[in-house]
Amino acid sequence: MPISSRVAMISGASRGIGASIAEKLLAEGWAVSLGLRNPDGSPFKTHANALTCRFDALDSESERTWLDETLHRFGRIDGLVLNAGMMIQKTVLEANDADFDLIFNVNVKSPMRLSQLTWPHLEKADAGRIVTIASLSGKRVKSAGSGLYAMSKFAAVALGHGLRQCGKENGVRSTIICPSYVATDMGNALANRESTELTQPDDIARIVHMVLELPKTASIAEIPVHFSVEDAY
Ligand SMILES: NC(=O)c1ccc[n+]([C@@H]2O[C@H](COP(=O)([O-])OP(=O)(O)OC[C@H]3O[C@@H](n4cnc5c(N)ncnc54)[C@H](OP(=O)(O)O)[C@@H]3O)[C@@H](O)[C@H]2O)c1
Repeated sequence: MPISSRVAMISGASRGIGASIAEKLLAEGWAVSLGLRNPDGSPFKTHANALTCRFDALDSESERTWLDETLHRFGRIDGLVLNAGMMIQKTVLEANDADFDLIFNVNVKSPMRLSQLTWPHLEKADAGRIVTIASLSGKRVKSAGSGLYAMSKFAAVALGHGLRQCGKENGVRSTIICPSYVATDMGNALANRESTELTQPDDIARIVHMVLELPKTASIAEIPVHFSVEDAY
C-alpha cells in the first residue's frame, strides 16, 4: 500500500553503519526497506515502518527481488543508501583475481546495479537521493594493506560522481560520504585505537539523514569525515 512517508532503501543494515542509518531514518519518520543477507534475524523485522528483505551483493537476482518487494510494500522510493561493503586487507601486490572480483562485486558492481534499478523510481520522487558510503580510502591510499580496498572505494567514489552527472537535470542528487575509521566491526578490527575514539556509526547516520533531506539546490558532492584531524587526503 503506498504510504506518505519518504522511503529509503539501505543495503547492509544488519549491523554497524547501516543499522544506525536505519534507526536514525525511522526516528525521523522515514520508512525503510533494508537489504540484508539474513532478513529473518533482523531486529527491524517487527518495526511497523521497516521492511526487511533478502539482499546479497553477490546475487544480482536478490537486488531485483528486494526492489520489487519494496515497491509492493511502499509504492515509492525516495532514497537509496549504498552502505553494504567489505574489506580484504591485502596490498595491491598480494591481491589475486579472486580477491579483486569479490571486493569489486560487493563494493562497486552491486551498488552500480542497485543505482540503475532504483533510478527510474528516484526520478519519479520529488527529491530522489542516492548516498554512497565510500571511505577516505576512496580518496587516498594510506597504507599498503589498504591498497585493494582503496581501489574499490576509489571506484565507489567515481560511481557516486557519475550518478551526480546523470541526475543534473532531473533533480536526483548523489552524495558520497568518505569516513575514516568508524566504530563498527570493520573499523574496530582495523583501527589501532579505542572504539570510543573513533567516529561513531550514529554520527554517520546523522550525516546521511541530513543529505537525504537537503533540497536539490543544496547538493553536496562529497563529505570526508575523520575521527580526529587529517590535513589532506
Ligand atoms: N567502519 C569503518 O571504519 C568504515 C570506514 C569507511 C567506510 N566504511 C564503509 O561503511 C560501510 C559499512 O561498513 P561498517 O563499518 O558498518 O561494516 P560492518 O560492520 O562490517 O558491516 C558491513 C555490512 O555490509 C554487509 N555486507 C557485507 N557483504 C555483503 C554482501 N555480499 N551482501 C550484502 N551485504 C553485505 C554486512 O552484512 P552481514 O551482517 O550479513 O555480514 C553488514 O551489514 C561499508 O561500505 C564500509 O566499507 C566503513
